[in-house]
Amino acid sequence: MEILHISAECYPMAKVGGLADVVGSLPKYQQNLGHIAKVVVPMYRTKFLYDNDWEVVHKGSIKMGAYSNEFTIIKEKLNKTGFDLYCVDINGLLDREKVYGYEDDTERFTAFQIAVLEWLNQWNHKPDIVHVHDYHAGLIPFMMRNCFQFASLSSIPTVLTIHNAQYQGWMSWDKGNYFPAWDTWKWGLLDWGNTINPLACAIKTADKVNTVSPGYMEELMHNANGLEALFRQEWAKCSGIINGIDYMVWNPETDSYIMDNFSIKDFKAGKQLNKKKLCDDFDMDINLPLFIFIGRLVGEKSADLLAPAISRAFEEHGKILNILILGSGEPSVEHALYSLNNKWVGYYNTQISYNEKLSHQMYAGADFLLMPSRVEPCGLNQLYAMRYGTMPLVRKTGGLKDTVPDFGDEGGYGITFIQASVEDITHAMQRAITLYNNQKQLNKLRETMMNVNNSWEQSASKYIDLYSSIL
Ligand code: GLC
Repeated sequence: MEILHISAECYPMAKVGGLADVVGSLPKYQQNLGHIAKVVVPMYRTKFLYDNDWEVVHKGSIKMGAYSNEFTIIKEKLNKTGFDLYCVDINGLLDREKVYGYEDDTERFTAFQIAVLEWLNQWNHKPDIVHVHDYHAGLIPFMMRNCFQFASLSSIPTVLTIHNAQYQGWMSWDKGNYFPAWDTWKWGLLDWGNTINPLACAIKTADKVNTVSPGYMEELMHNANGLEALFRQEWAKCSGIINGIDYMVWNPETDSYIMDNFSIKDFKAGKQLNKKKLCDDFDMDINLPLFIFIGRLVGEKSADLLAPAISRAFEEHGKILNILILGSGEPSVEHALYSLNNKWVGYYNTQISYNEKLSHQMYAGADFLLMPSRVEPCGLNQLYAMRYGTMPLVRKTGGLKDTVPDFGDEGGYGITFIQASVEDITHAMQRAITLYNNQKQLNKLRETMMNVNNSWEQSASKYIDLYSSIL
């Protein structure tokens, strides 16, 4: 079958978080299963855009309330991603350096969606499935069914994947005139709590809705940033499919970012060499357990708890551990973490940046990964870490709960805790330090986690089954 994915992010064209990794890898695995998967994203001014060759495949124009815009659809010529990648270029609106965070994000993503549908409307041979990701593409199923000019798209089945229900894209009703002429009797489909809510609208109008882990779907029934009642109402079409990771990109045997490649057979020596490189770079003692945190420095990831938890760990145990943090986010959290750089010199370092290469080196060289997230729809970092034999310390929530069983009472290969609190994090670190002192047991657990198959293979087929159920 032929699937068109519509998303705000797709690695390596544009990445802010895990959404990009999923949209950049799932289509590849769908192609491997013999299907045709295509992806369309906005054209931002990213490195990938400038480093590659593109051809123009369509030109058109849209009207959005008082705005009118020309748009161009370009396609990457050499198929470097392993699937057809298209970008929507709208001058002045989408072609910016950042993906999100502009005052006119509502206009940007609404225009993106209208342009995609204008283009799709011209296809002679339509896709079998339109698969939208998160709220940035959430108005698509509604517009396909209810905008008169898209009548030819109204019978294509649609799937919504929710990567994060915290962000819903709320917009006031005075923007209701942005959409091409639509059946206003259907206003209730756009509305949630007297605003237009693109995520709620997609939950109501897509044929199937899934989240990126079963655990997160269950949580949303009770805790969904205001959409709980809607999830309960629509439960019959909702499900959870756990994300996989791209085993071609995340493979310690072939990863070109890391110091020394290793496999399950020689991971002890391999990890040690990678740890040495990291410890040399950051002037740390290789004999101590090395903890890492990689991700957005925001409340959702409990990044605000890291500085107090780390300070407490050092105060309670002394200098018997190393910590390396990589990420960027809320200024207050960045400041709290960065200011510790001067306090625990030689044991602690925070890098405020997004650095794909360093992140690979950290997964390869670390002993433990901290992931105390308050909300984690799936989480990919724990999966990357395990593939490189780095033990995750996770809060039992969403996809973390589904993918990381505790090595103690659950017979698993991770360390889990219940609360997003300084106490629970430091207690988990304490357990990790004790385990580190028993290298034999730790290595056995490393071997077990490296053997777990978290690749896309199984989940890619589950998506195909989901599509088949509505075809
Ligand atoms: C979002 C979620 C994360 C998930 C990712 C990919 O970034 O916060 O948990 O793994 O999307 O689905």
